[in-house]
Amino acid sequence: MKNFTSVYDIDNLQEIIAKTLKIKENPLENPTKGNGKTIGLVFLNSSLRTRLSSQIAAQNLGLNVLTLNAAQEAWNLEFADGTVMNGDTVEHIKDAIEVLNQYCDIIAVRCFAGMKSKEDDVNESILSQFLKHAKVPVISLESATRHPLQSLADCITITENWKENRKPKVVLTWAPHIKPIAQAVGNSFTEWMQQMDVDFVIANPEGYDLDKNFTKDTKVLHNQDEALKDADFIYVKNWSSFEEYAVMPKVDENWMLTNEKLELTNNAKVMHCLPVRRNLELSDEVMDGENSIIYQQAKNRIFSAQAVFSEILDEIN
Ligand code: CP
Repeated sequence: MKNFTSVYDIDNLQEIIAKTLKIKENPLENPTKGNGKTIGLVFLNSSLRTRLSSQIAAQNLGLNVLTLNAAQEAWNLEFADGTVMNGDTVEHIKDAIEVLNQYCDIIAVRCFAGMKSKEDDVNESILSQFLKHAKVPVISLESATRHPLQSLADCITITENWKENRKPKVVLTWAPHIKPIAQAVGNSFTEWMQQMDVDFVIANPEGYDLDKNFTKDTKVLHNQDEALKDADFIYVKNWSSFEEYAVMPKVDENWMLTNEKLELTNNAKVMHCLPVRRNLELSDEVMDGENSIIYQQAKNRIFSAQAVFSEILDEIN
């Protein structure tokens, strides 16, 4: 694995899921594998889970860890090429990446969608600069259109919670929110579920269909109750409109998951990547109820990161 920015950087999903579950059994099995190597964790946006789980994963492998909370601590970055930098920006992203090349053996970056230009976000205007200028492997800690480390954790959480000898029904359901949220988690989960041996359905209101380049031939329903019927796993996530980019078309029905809605399912396990706005996206009763596997999912972020860092170390060692 040279870089890790999507499911397409993985040769064999079942193999990496098995490796990740093995790491979970004994996270300190290879405590010196990363000795003498440095990973730079660059956050252009906020994070709790991704920052901490990546640090734990790197430490478990003996990697040196540099964490840069760039939005708060670094110089104000310029992203446009050819700009006369006589405004607020102080350092060009390509100079910053060239310097990171001098300090790091792996660069991991979080760069959310700006939600202003659909073209910039679809084309991954920031991640693409890291991929262009980095001379070391690049790992996405969530980009404009994908969140692959989250998706790998989601896959292992589903695998751990499914023991029956049939395909589970997995439903990705839209949830309400108060502001426009990127499609990255929904897109990414969709791509990974398409590679899993599951019966996968997306439920969202009219006007909220994800980018067809991600959904492809996955079934999309605009009736949540119909989608939830007999579900074994429900993944709850908000996203704003892709078609009318970053807009929030009015939704009349209540899409927040409740215990009453869970009765439609096959006693489904409930997932959310967090952070979650309680009683807006997801009710307290579901968050705190026995069907929630949300904290297990958050714990699995450590092992998904560790599996990916380990694969990258195999490449560069
Ligand atoms: N799920 C997730 O990526 O959490 P953070 O944004 O806190 O890292």
